[in-house]
Amino acid sequence: MPFMKPKVYVTRNIPKAIEILRGSCDLTIHSKAKPPSKREIMQKIRDKDGLLCVLSDRIDREVIASAEDLKVISSYSVGYDHIDTDAATKNGIFVAYTPDVLTETTADLAFALMLAVARRVVEADKLVRRGRWKNTWSYDFMLGNDIHCKTLGIIGMGRIGSAVARRADGFKMKVLYHSRSRLSIDKESELNATYRELDDLLKESDFVSLHLSLGKDTYHLMSEQKFRLMKSNAYLINTSRGQVVDERALAKALRMKWIAGAALDVFEREPVTKDSPLLRFDNVVLVPHIGSASRETRERMAEVAALNILNVLKGGKPLYAVNPVL
Ligand code: GLV
Repeated sequence: MPFMKPKVYVTRNIPKAIEILRGSCDLTIHSKAKPPSKREIMQKIRDKDGLLCVLSDRIDREVIASAEDLKVISSYSVGYDHIDTDAATKNGIFVAYTPDVLTETTADLAFALMLAVARRVVEADKLVRRGRWKNTWSYDFMLGNDIHCKTLGIIGMGRIGSAVARRADGFKMKVLYHSRSRLSIDKESELNATYRELDDLLKESDFVSLHLSLGKDTYHLMSEQKFRLMKSNAYLINTSRGQVVDERALAKALRMKWIAGAALDVFEREPVTKDSPLLRFDNVVLVPHIGSASRETRERMAEVAALNILNVLKGGKPLYAVNPVL
């Protein structure tokens, strides 16, 4: 019997990943601009050994059950809340992801958002474009808030949270953090970060930056009650997952001026639609889920996502596995 290459379905036309997989796999690539529907994914993975997907593909129990030979689901992302990992584990399927390579790029964006919202960069840019810059210079024009020497509260001190803490040190910020587990004393001193209970962190911070994964325990973590604890001159930065924040509560917090502003890369529903109340606030910076979106990082993510598949199809383990070894 002739040697059959393993079959892999790739849900987006990601050139680097395709280049790596092409030689040793029989690829089916979804190359249309419109993402594949759930039904399409189910049909396509029926006879596949590997699936390379992205974070907006919902790989739930039903999708997983439709695959007869699947050995690995490799997501081109660090988040994996879109995949039913328990169902995959029960079916003997590896779930793999792309952490590490996007850590610094995502931390850069968290900082960019913090600077943008506090110094009103986006508002100022719009003002110049609209021809509303009337006087050459004025002492009280477009005043924002400083970042340096302020208190930054990081919620979720994993890879990305820690990379944000390192940047904050350069801005002479005082760094507080809250995490599921406390860091070692050595790590706390390396990051110059001090542990706080969540409510205390919210009460003390000038900037609150979220770096949590989405799960039952983090869904709507930022509720109305939590926004009420924040300082009225504080900003919320979210580069993690939209559902970690109750957006209705956030809109209320902005309306009631419980907080000074927000800068968001992620939303409860993506893409954001025109009827989102968040669009009405000048003190909110909104960007379209671009945390890892640098050319270099996307190239590395593609490599890792492809190697995660190849390793499993060669009988090994993914470079980065989410679920325990089967
Ligand atoms: C981005 O949000 C990712 O999970 O990679």
